[in-house]
Amino acid sequence: MTNNNIPVITVDGPSGTGKGSLCGRLAETLGFHLLDSGSLYRVLAYVVSKEKISIEDIASIVEQAGKLDLSFEKKGELVSILLSGEDVSAQIRTEESGNKASKIAIIPDVRAALFERQKAFQMSPGLIADGRDMGTVVFPKADLKIYLTASAEQRAKRRHKQLKDKGNDVTVAQLLNDIAERDQRDSQRQVAPLKPAADAIVIDTTNLGIEEVEAQVRALIEERGLSS
Ligand code: C5P
Repeated sequence: MTNNNIPVITVDGPSGTGKGSLCGRLAETLGFHLLDSGSLYRVLAYVVSKEKISIEDIASIVEQAGKLDLSFEKKGELVSILLSGEDVSAQIRTEESGNKASKIAIIPDVRAALFERQKAFQMSPGLIADGRDMGTVVFPKADLKIYLTASAEQRAKRRHKQLKDKGNDVTVAQLLNDIAERDQRDSQRQVAPLKPAADAIVIDTTNLGIEEVEAQVRALIEERGLSS
């Protein structure tokens, strides 16, 4: 159990493994809060582009990280992200912003600036935290840690479907490239690299549908008495 007795379930892993869908469903059925930590890095990437800040200008990026005026609006399983009151959910969900986010996420001072903001999501009755370092760095005492993996090909296919549904035109081959590049950057960085926590339960979702993944995790939640 974490310090303040409010349960935390972390779900880490690379993109396209089904983390977002799983976390949305769990938060909805358990009535828990949801932290989509990737959205913080994505919003920051969006601000950096909008303010025409160079990716090399670390001091300015860190300054922006410290003053992001963010709020979240829950709509069923989905959460809208508001930047200074403006809904930027669609703008930050592009491949470009994901890639830029992963470049910014390497900067240790950016991670430090976003750390407390992420911790603050731990509110009653509980939290589902989705990201790369939720179980290793941000909530190391989480009650249940899940790590999702899947083959790069399957992840590229899933991303392709998601993006196509939103009207974005990218090829699976292009996505496979992006995924390999982003995995490399996320898992090789010095601070908070992408890896399962020592006490995480790893689930390979390559051949599993979202319902099957959810059922496995629900069973673990019951087992640990976290659904109250
Ligand atoms: O999960 P999502 O694809 O939205 O994350 C975008 C990028 O933000 C990731 O590729 C990763 O580099 C970074 N990120 C991170 N730590 C997190 C969540 C996301 O470094 N907890």
